Amino acid sequence: MHPLRDRGFTHPIPSEVTPRAAYEQRRQWLKLLAAGAAGTALATWAERDARASTTAPGKLAALPGARSTVAGAVTMERLTPYQDVSTYNNFYEFGTDKSDPAKYAKSLKTRPWTVQVEGEVRKPGTYDIDALLKLAPMEERIYRMRCVEGWSMVIPWVGWSIAELIKRVEPTGNAKFVQFVTLADRAQMPGLRSSVLEWPYVEALRMDEAMHPLAILAFGLYGEVLPNQNGAPVRLVVPWKYGFKSGKSIVRIRFVEKQPKTSWELSAPQEYGFYSNVNPTVDHPRWSQATERRIGEDGLFAKKRPTLMFNGYEAQVGQLYAGMDLRKLY
Ligand code: MTE
Repeated sequence: MHPLRDRGFTHPIPSEVTPRAAYEQRRQWLKLLAAGAAGTALATWAERDARASTTAPGKLAALPGARSTVAGAVTMERLTPYQDVSTYNNFYEFGTDKSDPAKYAKSLKTRPWTVQVEGEVRKPGTYDIDALLKLAPMEERIYRMRCVEGWSMVIPWVGWSIAELIKRVEPTGNAKFVQFVTLADRAQMPGLRSSVLEWPYVEALRMDEAMHPLAILAFGLYGEVLPNQNGAPVRLVVPWKYGFKSGKSIVRIRFVEKQPKTSWELSAPQEYGFYSNVNPTVDHPRWSQATERRIGEDGLFAKKRPTLMFNGYEAQVGQLYAGMDLRKLY
């Protein structure tokens, strides 16, 4: 039995769509090729690819999710190996290098943990993380994720639509935006000594974006609770927006009337807008958004893949932005 099935996954996973033997043979072949002809750079990539695994190591607590029936919630593209998902991260509270979070986030204590819901809601409250986990049935959401820096991954998240929480707290008519405030604790987060961003890290969505069923609160990935470096114990995941919209280690969810500033807007407003929808036609000043490289799969010499409008979720979310000038509201 495939290890993912063991954890309650009942649908075909990408490694089964490509028969495993053929897939491993291809990797072996690439590795040989690389070692022989193409030099060190490619060899490094092939080795990294061969080492990586598409299953979680099983060191964290199991957190299975049922296959989601939400439209667009499962892509059949090959999963990015767990090894890459959990070691190539942005989490500036633990350093700005991609490898820093995996090294330093061990110090993050994820229990006890509470999430405060406040602002323009009829039922504000403080949720203990273990109660929040049980608020709605866990679903597995296999999402394409795309970073503004030009790389992408395919990640099997475990969580539920934020709409589940929003419905329960009953927003008032004044609630136009939802702000997500993440932990800022100097004792646990060495990166806070740097002023690279304003702390705490904050993100926000317009109310209708937050209510979209594809926007989730994620508590796990690969059938286990989130590794700390990926935003344990709870983070936002919005697959049609650049990765930085997905705030990690959330402690406060605030419903507000005015559009809040977000951390990246505050740090560089000319580079990062409020919306940050994946859009191959609007380049970031420093990085083209037309194409992307899939981490763990596309080597340095591979042709880059085209980036899709709204990261491929246009059919599901395009309507949210009808009539908006996405060059201005980027
Ligand atoms: N959340 C917090 N609290 N701090 C951060 O630095 N980085 C963002 C986002 N959420 C960040 C954060 C950025 S830039 C990205 S690309 C994604 O998290 C990365 O998520 P991943 O490491 O799980 O792929």
